[in-house]
Amino acid sequence: MGTKFLQWILTFCMVYSVTGEGCSLIIKPSRVVVGFGESVSVTCEAARPVRVLGWESAISAAHTQQDLSVQWKVDSLIDWIEEPICYGVFFTAPRQCEEKLNLVLYKTPDSVSIRPVNHTGPMVEGKEYQLLCEVQNIAPVQYLTLRWYRGQTEVYNHSFSDLTSSSPVQVSSILLITPTKDENGAQYRCVAELELGPEGPKPPPSVTSEPLNASVYFPPVFISPEPEVLELIGGDEMTLNCTATGNPAPVYSWQSPHPIQESTDNEAVLTSSSLIPGTYTCTASNTLEKKSKQFIVKAKTKGV
Ligand SMILES: *[C@@H]1O[C@H](CO)[C@@H](O)[C@H](O)[C@H]1NC(C)=O
Ligand SMILES: *[C@@H]1O[C@H](CO)[C@@H](O)[C@H](O)[C@H]1NC(C)=O
Ligand SMILES: *[C@@H]1O[C@H](CO)[C@@H](O)[C@H](O)[C@H]1NC(C)=O
Ligand SMILES: *[C@@H]1O[C@H](CO)[C@@H](O)[C@H](O)[C@H]1NC(C)=O
Repeated sequence: MGTKFLQWILTFCMVYSVTGEGCSLIIKPSRVVVGFGESVSVTCEAARPVRVLGWESAISAAHTQQDLSVQWKVDSLIDWIEEPICYGVFFTAPRQCEEKLNLVLYKTPDSVSIRPVNHTGPMVEGKEYQLLCEVQNIAPVQYLTLRWYRGQTEVYNHSFSDLTSSSPVQVSSILLITPTKDENGAQYRCVAELELGPEGPKPPPSVTSEPLNASVYFPPVFISPEPEVLELIGGDEMTLNCTATGNPAPVYSWQSPHPIQESTDNEAVLTSSSLIPGTYTCTASNTLEKKSKQFIVKAKTKGV
């Protein structure tokens, strides 16, 4: 009885559900990648005499009783749930088998956009921010990689291979950033790229967001913050250079041991031929911080 049962199982499997190895059906090409609305044509071939050979499909179903090959052809594929199956009914065992077409219908996103989360205006150096990239109507999402760029540098990528959906979906990705002053003016971009495998288009189809210009506020920074010691040469013009970088741009003020003739209102550079020895202090300030730098002007030492 055990043997009979086993035989029954074997027969059942051979007659009704043979696929892959042992199934004499060959699909050419074995995997197709089609853009939404594009045409597609796939051939199914029987490797031995066949009673009926056909394509089971909601669209463009077809069959033949004469030929050893049958074509599945669609002029404009827009059906997200299409899963065509080639079937063959043979004269000899296995009497019936089927092969599913490995079909990928893809669509590039309608839009890819980027924006800060819960924040408007300039960012401040050293604080944490979130940037959000939103992708509308992409399929199939499991082939999507979202790449984040700062300038030309890829800073993060987000793969969605753990999701499965053949029809278009909306997805997003968040990038955490803690901007430095060097990132002031940097452009962030988000690129949605569909990596569809060797049968897919090359280069992979991609859509890039508009750039997001980062404005990063940072306190005034002097090129060299240490006090500068200068030697006074009688009558010559002297230049005290207090230039600092900063965002917003720093404003400057000067404190000197005597009234200076030249106007120093918001001047980063003090140029004068009438300086006397002493300590000159320059202050560079913006909305974040006030920083000072000293210039020590000495009388020229005799005999040197
Ligand atoms: C953004 O702000 C809203 C309302 O203030 C809050 O509910 C949400 O959690 C915030 N989102 C993030 C990512 O901080
Ligand atoms: C994503 O980023 C990681 C680490 O930065 C990198 O190793 C990997 O190759 C990237 N993946 C892709 C698909 O580019
Ligand atoms: C971003 O910066 C670029 C280059 O500096 C500039 O052309 C563009 O207008 C800026 N965009 C916005 C929205 O400020
Ligand atoms: C002052 O220093 C800055 C930064 O080093 C420089 O760009 C600028 O040309 C200098 N100005 C003068 C008048 O020397």
